[in-house]
Amino acid sequence: MDIQLTDEQRQVRELCRQFADSELRPNARRWDLDHQFPADAVKKLAEMGLMGVAIPAELGGAGMDNVSYAVAMEEISRGCAGTGVIMSVNNSLYCDPIHKFGTEEQKRDFLVPFARGERLGAFALTEPTSGSDAAEMRTVAVKKGNEYVLNGTKNFITNGPQADVVLVFAVTDRSKGHKGTSAFLVPGSVKGFTRSKADEKVGIRASGSCTLFFEDVVLPERFRLGGEGEGFKVAMQTLDGGRIGIAAQALGIAQAAYEEAVAYAKERKAFGQPITQFQAIQFMLADMATEIEAARLLVWRAAWMKDKGIRHSAESAMAKLYASEMCERVTSKAIQVHGGYGYVKEYDVERHWRDSRITEIYEGTSEIQRLVIAANVLKG
Ligand code: CAA
Repeated sequence: MDIQLTDEQRQVRELCRQFADSELRPNARRWDLDHQFPADAVKKLAEMGLMGVAIPAELGGAGMDNVSYAVAMEEISRGCAGTGVIMSVNNSLYCDPIHKFGTEEQKRDFLVPFARGERLGAFALTEPTSGSDAAEMRTVAVKKGNEYVLNGTKNFITNGPQADVVLVFAVTDRSKGHKGTSAFLVPGSVKGFTRSKADEKVGIRASGSCTLFFEDVVLPERFRLGGEGEGFKVAMQTLDGGRIGIAAQALGIAQAAYEEAVAYAKERKAFGQPITQFQAIQFMLADMATEIEAARLLVWRAAWMKDKGIRHSAESAMAKLYASEMCERVTSKAIQVHGGYGYVKEYDVERHWRDSRITEIYEGTSEIQRLVIAANVLKG
């Protein structure tokens, strides 16, 4: 593996960094305070090809690779972590599985407009009583002739309030365990599909999440993604890619907090000199820089493996585990460097710290990542 970015990947980074500095960073604090979905910024992401980065151009995407996607996710999340997760769910959890498992008709109707960013997708696996134990879901889809009738509830669904179509997982045959789960593309306009008000969250407040209710929703068979009984495999393979996106999001949040800590430390004086003169501060900055670089290498490696078609379940889990826990440590240190100013909303580091926390929970908690890694370690 070449750990240098290609010219194209560097251009993506530069473009996203400029966009983040000019359009996201100046607004991120307000979106956070107001819990506001950044509709105009998402429209601009679409114009830049960032809502379907690794989807081929003929299917509406930008036709780039997954390393470019990871680089773009880091930069966008460095500007606004809430905007980052809106982008990541549409790319990794919605477009990617349709690209991989969809029929030609599904790609035309359910992928192209989403990869172009004209419409927004969501992914609904989690339920009120099954998060980590995904196979324990209660949502059911009962087959009647050429149709399925969907009943159940999904919660904490990122992009749920805005999504035009949701990829929903449901049990089609409980007697078959994992092999009795199927995936369905559920348009927001179908009868019997309703949504709660948006969740009031600690962080990533520019992105909306909510509970989705399905009551006798009738779906034609052609809305099933993949074969009947393939839903768990679709979910797990999709999360292998999604976890790269969340790891890159954590990396971007940490990078933003680190840059702000360095800038503040250079300005702030104590005991007659800039605080950068004190080893206590230097060591914190050195640890932050080292951990960010280590996480970046894990993220790029997992993305590179996805590009090469190599199974990357454990490597994605390692990238997400390390990057998310690193992000909480780095953002916390950034507050420490700022002292009391780090604890008030006048500075952005408190937001980065709040944003960091969810990266250790969604798309599989740190504990789930450790289980995935351990299963891989013990297999060999
Ligand atoms: N790729 C392909 N197949 C896979 C796979 C993968 N990565 N992981 C598991 N499988 C297959 C296994 O091979 C096995 O198949 P066979 O029966 O044919 O052998 C089957 O799936 C069952 O595997 P396990 O026995 O390992 O399954 P398990 O029930 O023990 O659970 C788990 C595994 C890793 C704990 C899984 O349930 C899991 O990942 N849980 C966390 C769920 C999660 O991440 N939720 C996040 C929700 S999405 C979200 O957060 C979105 C958002 O808002 C941003």
